[in-house]
Amino acid sequence: MNDQKCKVDYEQFIPRETGFIFKFEKKDNTFIHTFIEGKLIEKVGLYPELIVGKTLFEFLPAEQALRKEAFYEKAWNGEHVNYEGSLGGIHYLAVLNPVRQSGVTVEVIGTTIDITKEKAREKHVQQMEKLSVVGELAAGIAHEIRNPLTSLKGFAKIVKESVSDTNLVPYLDIMLDEMDRINEIVNEFMFIAKPSEHVNFQKTNLNQLLQECIHFMAPQANLKSIEIGLQSDSKIILNCDRKQMKQVLINLLQNAIEATEDSGHLIEVRLEEMETDSVMVTIIDKGCGISESRINRLFEPFYSTKEKGTGLGLITCKRIIDLHKGRIDIKSKLGEGTTIKICLPRLLGIESEK
Ligand SMILES: Nc1ncnc2c1ncn2[C@@H]1O[C@H](COP(=O)(O)OP(=O)(O)OP(=O)(O)O)[C@@H](O)[C@H]1O
Ligand SMILES: [Mg+2]
Repeated sequence: MNDQKCKVDYEQFIPRETGFIFKFEKKDNTFIHTFIEGKLIEKVGLYPELIVGKTLFEFLPAEQALRKEAFYEKAWNGEHVNYEGSLGGIHYLAVLNPVRQSGVTVEVIGTTIDITKEKAREKHVQQMEKLSVVGELAAGIAHEIRNPLTSLKGFAKIVKESVSDTNLVPYLDIMLDEMDRINEIVNEFMFIAKPSEHVNFQKTNLNQLLQECIHFMAPQANLKSIEIGLQSDSKIILNCDRKQMKQVLINLLQNAIEATEDSGHLIEVRLEEMETDSVMVTIIDKGCGISESRINRLFEPFYSTKEKGTGLGLITCKRIIDLHKGRIDIKSKLGEGTTIKICLPRLLGIESEK
């Protein structure tokens, strides 16, 4: 049965456009590639001359080569082996088919197809599932927490007003502040669960809004001797939900401050109008930066590298920007800093400064 496999014209069924085919043999206890063809080779950053006549260790990092060698060994022992891998940002699925003659493997034919898109889709689905769990949690938590919280707050206020020992007042103030904080967290969860129910578009002076946010963040920045500078040429009126946009800007400024060391480095905020009837807000920090491996995870709920971070800041920003039909783009270099660009369609005209 296995012997028939070598008669199959594999060249007919190989998806050359989206994959590649390769062959290898075992000589002197080493796997040597004898053939490779297909468009995906170049995409993963390799070329046939690098592979044909070579062992895995001659063109792959040792760790990857070792992992693949184990699959090659299995195939050489007569098993059909499937494995997934990634090279040069491309995810692929490889199948190894041993070609056997008289019960002995004479060569192995491998086929590889590009599954990058499928992987991205799978990740997206997982993320959406995570989000819907968050949504359900949010609704449940909000319901369960808000009601008792309202009574607690009401009674704490009454106690504060009628307490005879004035030494207790500061404690009651702290209690009231903390209750406000709980309320905020609950609202944040609620927003992530159903953001579109909360949008309230208004004509907004974006320059002023940015200034308000910078002003709001100034005490926190001052603590680390960080200055936040605003550059803007013209007065920009944007049709947006003012409260939500403020939340985006504050979340981003907060991240920028948290990433920056106590050094007096400037955080730069730029506001520009773009040719394509949109506006761009850029926030540049010279903070710790984000490594390439982490940058793809930033919009995952609960992804945080901070001891006290909830990891909901950026995903909330993304949701709000999506609701405004805008885009957010993050570029970062570890140890050098981060640049975040938000592009928003203006939807309303621009007024020149008087
Ligand atoms: N400007 C930045 N510089 C460096 N890292 C950043 C920056 N902005 C975000 N990050 C990274 O992205 C992660 C996620 O950010 P996000 O705002 O979603 O959550 P968080 O700040 O950790 O918590 P919180 O929910 O309190 O905002 C951060 O933990 C941090 O590792
Ligand atoms: Mg944050």
